[in-house]
Amino acid sequence: MATIGIFDSGSGGLSVFREIRRAMPHERYIYYSDNANCPYGEKSREFITGRAREITRLLISKGAQLIVIACNTATAAAIATLRQEFDIPFVGMEPAVKPAALGTRSGVIGVLATAGTLKASKYLDTRDRFTEGIKVVEHVGSGFVELVESLDLHSEHTREVVSASLQPLLAQGADTIVLGCTHYPFLLPVMEEVAAGSSAGIRFIDPAPAVARQVSKILQEKGIGPATEGRPDVELLASASADTLQRLFSLICSE
Ligand code: DGL
Repeated sequence: MATIGIFDSGSGGLSVFREIRRAMPHERYIYYSDNANCPYGEKSREFITGRAREITRLLISKGAQLIVIACNTATAAAIATLRQEFDIPFVGMEPAVKPAALGTRSGVIGVLATAGTLKASKYLDTRDRFTEGIKVVEHVGSGFVELVESLDLHSEHTREVVSASLQPLLAQGADTIVLGCTHYPFLLPVMEEVAAGSSAGIRFIDPAPAVARQVSKILQEKGIGPATEGRPDVELLASASADTLQRLFSLICSE
C-alpha cells in the first residue's frame, strides 16, 4: 500500500482525490487543504511556491511517497521548483486544452481557470502547442472558489455567479469547456444547467481522470502500487478549520 499526499489551496482538490481513489481504492491518502491562504488565484508565484514547499515537507514527514498537486495554480507556480528540491515524484494538474482542441466541433474552446493559471507560462505553452487553428476563449471563474469553500453549490446565487463567467464563453461559440481549476468540478451540475439553457451539447472537460491514470502509472513504475487489497485510509488536514473539507469529503463519499 502506497502513501499518497495530495494538496490544494482548499477543498477543491477533493475533485481530484475522488478520481484517484476511484481508480486506487486501497492506498493510504493524506489530503492537505491550505485554506488559511485560500484562494491562491491572485497570489504571487513566490508565495505559492513557499507554501507548496512547506506542505510538501509536512506530507513527506507523514510518509508520502508521491505527491499530487491537486491545484492548477500551485502546479503552474511551483511544480518545477518542487521537482528540483525534493526526491519524490510529483503529479500536477494540466488544463485539458489538448483533448478539448481535438474534440471541439465549433472550433472554439473555453478555458475557465484562475488568473494565476491563465497567465502562467506552463499554461500558455500548452495552449500554444495544442490549439493551432482553434479559437481559445479564456475566463476567470470569478467567485467560484469562494462558492465551493462555503459549500454553496446549488443556490440561485451560485447560478448567477456561474452564469456570469460561463456566458461570455458560450456567447463566443465555445462548445467544449476546460475546467482549469480543481474547485470547479463541484459546480458542474450548475454549469451544465446554465449551459443547457443557452446552447445544446456543451462538453466540460475535467483533467482529474487523466491525473489518476498518471498516479497509477508512477506507482507501477516505482513498484509501490496500486494495492489490490486493504482498507483505505484517509487523513484530512487543513491550515484553518477543517469543517468544509470534512463536509465535502462526506459528500463525495456518499456519491
Ligand atoms: N483549486 C485551485 C486550482 O486548481 C486553486 C484555486 C484558488 O485557490 O484560487 O487552481
